[in-house]
Amino acid sequence: MSPYAHITGWGMAVPERVLTNAELSLMVETSDEWIFSRTGIRERHIADPEQTTASLAVEASLEALRIARLKPADLDLIIVATSSPEHIFPATACLVQDRIGATKAGAFDLLAACSGFIYGLNMATQAISSGSVHTALVIGAETLSRLVDWKDRNTCILFGDGAGAFVLQAAEERAGVLSAVMRSDGSGSDLLTLPGGGSRFPTTIDTVTQGLHYVQMNGREVFRFATRVMSQSTQEAVAKAGLRLEDIQLVIPHQANQRIIETALKNLEIPPERCFINLDRYGNTSTASIPIATCEAFTAGRLKPGDNIVMVGFGAGLTWGAAVVEWSGPFPGVRKLRPARLRLYARIRSFILRLLRRIDAWMWGRNNP
Ligand code: ACO
Repeated sequence: MSPYAHITGWGMAVPERVLTNAELSLMVETSDEWIFSRTGIRERHIADPEQTTASLAVEASLEALRIARLKPADLDLIIVATSSPEHIFPATACLVQDRIGATKAGAFDLLAACSGFIYGLNMATQAISSGSVHTALVIGAETLSRLVDWKDRNTCILFGDGAGAFVLQAAEERAGVLSAVMRSDGSGSDLLTLPGGGSRFPTTIDTVTQGLHYVQMNGREVFRFATRVMSQSTQEAVAKAGLRLEDIQLVIPHQANQRIIETALKNLEIPPERCFINLDRYGNTSTASIPIATCEAFTAGRLKPGDNIVMVGFGAGLTWGAAVVEWSGPFPGVRKLRPARLRLYARIRSFILRLLRRIDAWMWGRNNP
């Protein structure tokens, strides 16, 4: 029988700096009343200059590994779902691999916008159930504050920075990720886009002058699309898991907009108390929103072993998807891990590898860039 992918570790990281709606109203023509009534957002966290998508991902990952009682070297696979990678390449996942010292892991980025975490969860689950991977780390990490136009009130009020991570481990017992659905519709690709900086519109003075390096969004159309697909994909994933909506103890939706979530819940006839919402404090952290909400739901005592959860998201692409998870928790064990020590080992290891590469290049007369 194929193994199941259990969620055995979880972690989150958000920058300390909080940007309130009141502060935003000093930057663009808006108000706390407008933002809160249209979105449900009160404040969001914004990365300091030295914080990046990878640094937030590393913090969340080390916490997830600590909870799972695993060493970075136990990981076979690292997936970073992100819409704000550090570079087009190398993958942010490789930077994370190096900074945590995951010596045996393959690493890649996944771009499915805000649905990316659901896609990543499903890809890691499929790798585990095929038997090719035993332990995987799935991360959603963003610094979208670097990609929004802080003069555009349509978008800058929505997004926040942060990261969340899950450790997935193979086990025979039926639990963990029970089903997932992934969908896309590229005919809506113009509704939410960051057009510049890729191969279609490489960065030039013109693209920068036109603001093509910023997020552009048709909010009303995204809203309509989101309310439709959230309920559809939830129903599909629940049916695929062989469950009914009554069997679901908690819905953890992508935290984009309170009204989108409420409409989806109404369509599904799920009462609001069976849904976890924290977007008032974080805004839309894109791929990070579902794992961050999961960490907070656990801390709030909303997740118990045996609970069935639906995680559901949507985003640019257009993409959408949902996963049904039976919560299980860490595997038994007593190993204690210290994230600070792991980070130090990883830094020393990375330094030695870079040094050896330089010495090797010097010894054999190769020019090092
Ligand atoms: N403050 C004050 N007024 C504003 C603001 C603001 N921050 N933003 C827009 N307005 C104005 C508009 O200019 C418009 O004025 P007009 O009528 O004179 O033209 C008016 O408010 C209404 O604008 P709408 O866009 O119709 O407002 P709406 O009620 O649709 O709310 C919002 C806008 C919040 C963006 C909503 O459409 C939404 O949340 N859409 C979904 C967006 C989303 O979830 N995006 C993320 C997807 S996930 C991912 O992949 C990253």
